[in-house]
Parts: sequence; structure tokens; C-alpha cells
Amino acid sequence: ANTLGAAAAGSGRYFGTAVAAGRLGDSTYATILDREFNMITPENEMKWDTVEPSRGNFNFGPGDQIVNHATANGQRMRGHTLVWHSQLPGWVSSIGDANTLRSVMNNHITQEMTHYKGKIYAWDVVNEAFADGGSGQHRSSVFQNVLGNGFIEEAFRTARSVDSSAKLCYNDYSIENWTDAKTQGVYNMVKDFKSRGVPIDCVGFQSHFGSGGAPAGFRTTLSNFAALGVDVQLTELDLAQASPTAYAGAVQACLDVARCTGITVWGIRDSDSWRTGENPLLFDNYGNPKAAYGSVLTAL
Ligand code: XIL
Repeated sequence: ANTLGAAAAGSGRYFGTAVAAGRLGDSTYATILDREFNMITPENEMKWDTVEPSRGNFNFGPGDQIVNHATANGQRMRGHTLVWHSQLPGWVSSIGDANTLRSVMNNHITQEMTHYKGKIYAWDVVNEAFADGGSGQHRSSVFQNVLGNGFIEEAFRTARSVDSSAKLCYNDYSIENWTDAKTQGVYNMVKDFKSRGVPIDCVGFQSHFGSGGAPAGFRTTLSNFAALGVDVQLTELDLAQASPTAYAGAVQACLDVARCTGITVWGIRDSDSWRTGENPLLFDNYGNPKAAYGSVLTAL
């Protein structure tokens, strides 16, 4: 195969990218997008601050633009993201009453998932709920602080009740190294959810890597999570300076695990990346494939 999407499809996987609605009119961008990628994650357009900037006022316009593009070009969509402490409007983060916040969170999940029902392959239901460092506990957030530990379970149960066909995922960063406390915290949560029947189908490993790429234990981590009975994916892959061998190594970790169902890079050209100056993507500023593009294509 001579595109990322077709090469990944050869082993039943997908190859995706983050997309910004505002760049769809750039023909260089759109040409690469539609040639190479068969899964799309909206970079910002389905986040709370865009979708529900004030209580009960929903704005699906930017997200719809991306979904319409995907539909027209045969690409599937990952919904990103329903419950996250970041890019969260002030009206939510200032809620102090648990009953109010619970109904606000469940209503947000319900309205957004209902709007996109039938159009989303997988949702990042909860994003980045675990703390960095050695605690292995949830991070501080309005959801954690006001609703307590049960907010993640509540979000997943609500999500399943709204759309029983979409895959429901937990997504986080720095959970790629098996021995890290953060990885263990997420693993124990997924294990607990599976044992109690809390609906969860997948775990997304963001995979924002430094120039050395994935930690040595990444494949072990992916396979240990998969053994719990969830699919795993690399959801936001980017790698400082895009070393071809480091990129291929990260991709290989997924290919080595049967339940690793796909890989998404966090943007198309280096100039599209949120990591300014780090050149972490597969295409240069002009849309030319970099060396890492070739190594990834070969690995797939
Ligand atoms: C980033 C976007 O790329 C930026 O455009 C935005 O300013 C901030 O968010 N983890 C995530 C993504 O789950 O949503 C983040 O995306 C990168 C880190």
C-alpha cells in the first residue's frame, strides 16, 4: 500500500489524524488528509468550550464541518472529548453544587452524543482524569472535587445510555510506561470497571513523545490493557523532531498487539502542530512527506 490509511487497513487497523476545521479550506492540507488518513479526531471542535460555551447553549457548527468532510470522504470519526478539566468554560468550573454539576455533566454528554449519534466510531468520554507523578490518583478538577471519585463511572454509564453503538474510551497521556504510577492508576480503574460491568470499550494512549520516542515498555502496557478486554489505540501521536526509527518503534508497539486497533497522529504538517518548533509530525510545512513518513509506511 502506498498511503498510511491503506497500509494500516492491511492489518485491519486505521490511520488517523487530528483535524482543525479552519484548515479544511487549505487545499494542500485537505489533499493530504483525504489521501492518507481514514480516521479523524477534531483537534478542538468537540471540546466543551466550543460546544457549550454557556449553559444549555450548544454550538455544533465547527464539529459538523469536520463530520461533513469525513462523511463526504469516507473517513470515520473519533469524538474528542466529553469530560475534561481543560478547555472547560468558567461557568462549569465554578459550579460548587454536586447535584447541579452532575446534571450539567450528564446533560452535556447527552446533548453532544445525541447530536452526533451514528457518526462517531469512538468517543473519548473522559480525558486526562489522572494526576501526573507518583500518586496514581485522579487529578484535581471540578468534576473530581465536587462529584468525587465516581464521576468517571457516571460519565461512562451516561454515555452508554445515550449511544449504545459508539465505542466508549478513556484517553490520557504519560500512561505509556508500564511501571509508572499513573499507568497503574488507569489500569486499576479499567480493571475495576470491567469487573463491575461499568461500560468501557477502549483506552487511548495519547503518545506525545520526546525525541527518544515511546518508552521501552510501551508494547507491554498496550498488551496488558488489552488483556483486560478493551481495545487500545495511539490517539495523539507526535514525536519531537520525528526521528524515523522512534516513529516506527511507536507504530510497531501497536502492530504487535492484536487489540491495538489504530493509530492517530496529532496533525498533518509540522506547521499544523500544537508543539511549535518541535517538528513532530510526518509532513513538513510544505506538505512533503518527511523521513518518518517513509519509516512509518514501511512499518505498517
Ligand atoms: C490541544 C490542541 O492541539 C491545541 O490546538 C489546543 O490549543 C490545546 O489542546 N491532549 C489532548 C488534546 O487531549 O485535546 C490536546 O490538543 C493536546 C493534549
